[in-house]
Amino acid sequence: MLHTCNPMLLTFIFIFFITSSLFRTLAEIDVHAVPIVTHTCQNLCGTIPLRYPIGSGFGCGHPDFAKYIKCSSGILQFSTSTGLYVITSIDYSTNILTITDPLMSNCTSMQNSGSFGLDSAAPFKITKDDIFVLLGCSTTSPLFDPNEDFCGTGSASQLCRGLYSCKGVMGIGLEPNAPVSTCCVYEPPVIFGSGYELDLPKLQCSSYTCINGFGEDKGDPNKWKYGITIQFNGSYGQTDACKGCEASAGTCGFTGLDERFACVCRNGVNTTVNCYGQG
Ligand SMILES: *[C@@H]1O[C@H](CO)[C@@H](O)[C@H](O)[C@H]1NC(C)=O
Ligand SMILES: *[C@@H]1O[C@H](CO)[C@@H](O)[C@H](O)[C@H]1NC(C)=O
Ligand SMILES: *[C@@H]1O[C@H](CO)[C@@H](O)[C@H](O)[C@H]1NC(C)=O
Repeated sequence: MLHTCNPMLLTFIFIFFITSSLFRTLAEIDVHAVPIVTHTCQNLCGTIPLRYPIGSGFGCGHPDFAKYIKCSSGILQFSTSTGLYVITSIDYSTNILTITDPLMSNCTSMQNSGSFGLDSAAPFKITKDDIFVLLGCSTTSPLFDPNEDFCGTGSASQLCRGLYSCKGVMGIGLEPNAPVSTCCVYEPPVIFGSGYELDLPKLQCSSYTCINGFGEDKGDPNKWKYGITIQFNGSYGQTDACKGCEASAGTCGFTGLDERFACVCRNGVNTTVNCYGQG
């Protein structure tokens, strides 16, 4: 009995293996195919909540903001013609973003920086809290032209002395407490609507920092707040269509060459109205 091969049984076993492996293959294809077809907008990037007009990338939020801001691997990036920066916080009550430049100096770490600029067409401007300090400048820099008033004096020179007392200055080739004649608290003439530009090669400086507050001890540069604060134009209010979209758990975005309004639903479907009944 044991030696007899039942052809029916063999056929059955064969069919069983073929079909079960086929189902496995189909199941794998299905799992891998799902994410490719959807395009969604996130309402959180890392720990930062995203609200209109700020979106997580192209097609999300307002197009004027999507040109400059996008969420990449949980990091909210801000890009301008001078580089790529990281947004560390957004205050929606004041419309202020705080950004850091990975090459910017602070008290613990100083290094050669790139330039920093805001495009004049961008819906952002530098806030009054920002104090830009140029470090390690050549004494022949146009900053020190006696006919121009680019560098602040008085309390400004105290900021320079504070920064030059940091151990970090060794990173730009200076000894701690070096003379502050190569430091400048930059006070360029303010021209509204012209953007902002800190052109380090032109100003002949090796680095810069931006202080946006002093913490509890103005005398201790380790406690100062480093980072650039920029305010966005608050006139980008939500239209009724956008409010309706959010009420239906969608995200306001845009689509097409004309960047017309689109409501992007959680399943990736975008509509001209809202996400009710979109599956
Ligand atoms: C909206 O859907 C259209 C067609 O499916 C697609 O081409 C477009 O990229 C989508 N836009 C957004 C913002 O998802
Ligand atoms: C100082 O700058 C370094 C290098 O960019 C950065 O890693 C560090 O977090 C900064 N420290 C503070 C207190 O901002
Ligand atoms: C702010 O945005 C509105 C709407 O886009 C625009 O009309 C206005 O000129 C902007 N204001 C400034 C100061 O850029």
